[in-house]
Amino acid sequence: MKFHIMTLFPQIIEAYMSESIMKKAEEKGNIEYKTWNIRDYSESKHKKVDDYPYGGGAGMVMTPQPIVSCYNAVVDDLDESLKQDKKPKVIYLTPKGKVFNNDMAIALAKEESLILLCGHYEGVDQRVIDLIVDEEISIGDYVLTGGELPALILIDSISRHVKGVLGHEESLDEESFTNGLLEYPHYTRPEVFMEKEVPKVLLSGHHKNIESWRKLESIKLTMKLRPDLFDYEALSKEDKKLLKKHNVIDK
Ligand code: ADE
Repeated sequence: MKFHIMTLFPQIIEAYMSESIMKKAEEKGNIEYKTWNIRDYSESKHKKVDDYPYGGGAGMVMTPQPIVSCYNAVVDDLDESLKQDKKPKVIYLTPKGKVFNNDMAIALAKEESLILLCGHYEGVDQRVIDLIVDEEISIGDYVLTGGELPALILIDSISRHVKGVLGHEESLDEESFTNGLLEYPHYTRPEVFMEKEVPKVLLSGHHKNIESWRKLESIKLTMKLRPDLFDYEALSKEDKKLLKKHNVIDK
């Protein structure tokens, strides 16, 4: 998976990508990324990238020319095979977009490459969206000062679903949002901390009991913290039985 990030602040992207798991993923060759500084493509004398909005109003709008020229440079840089009929999707990060979730991360991880466009100020001229953008994505119902953090959130969550990035892919099956449930609680050493004990079942070595306990906790946690996610009918027969046995639900 290769990410192309079009931004006015490439260093924000570089800072995050050069640490921890993203750094390792790049070193191992599981992901690639390249930042493109939109300002470099401005044809104006002072490398201007924004202007006042037509019709008046607060704030500035990013002008179309530097962004579209930057996009053309990204496309020019693509492998021949991609340039022809597999042009990467262009995603514009905006609070107006579709709210991002785990299923979208999983779907986007199947793409060969993606182009992420980060806005600033009041956003980009609408004609940029009409001309080059395929999808508008928001990371939540709040407004940030720019699209760099949202782009990094997409890159991070998408990369986790790219083979080899985590190195323990099986843990993806159990984590939150897989099967519509939150993940069960985790414990590590010591067995007792500030008088609080690790649940006995986890020390028992009895795999079936541990599995049942984790499933039950996962379901209870989802019902309590994210009732909007919980779908009783989507549970398996065994899970429904488990709930009844532990008096979580009396259906
Ligand atoms: N840019 C500013 N706020 C944003 C948000 N919530 N999601 C995506 N991009 C943004």
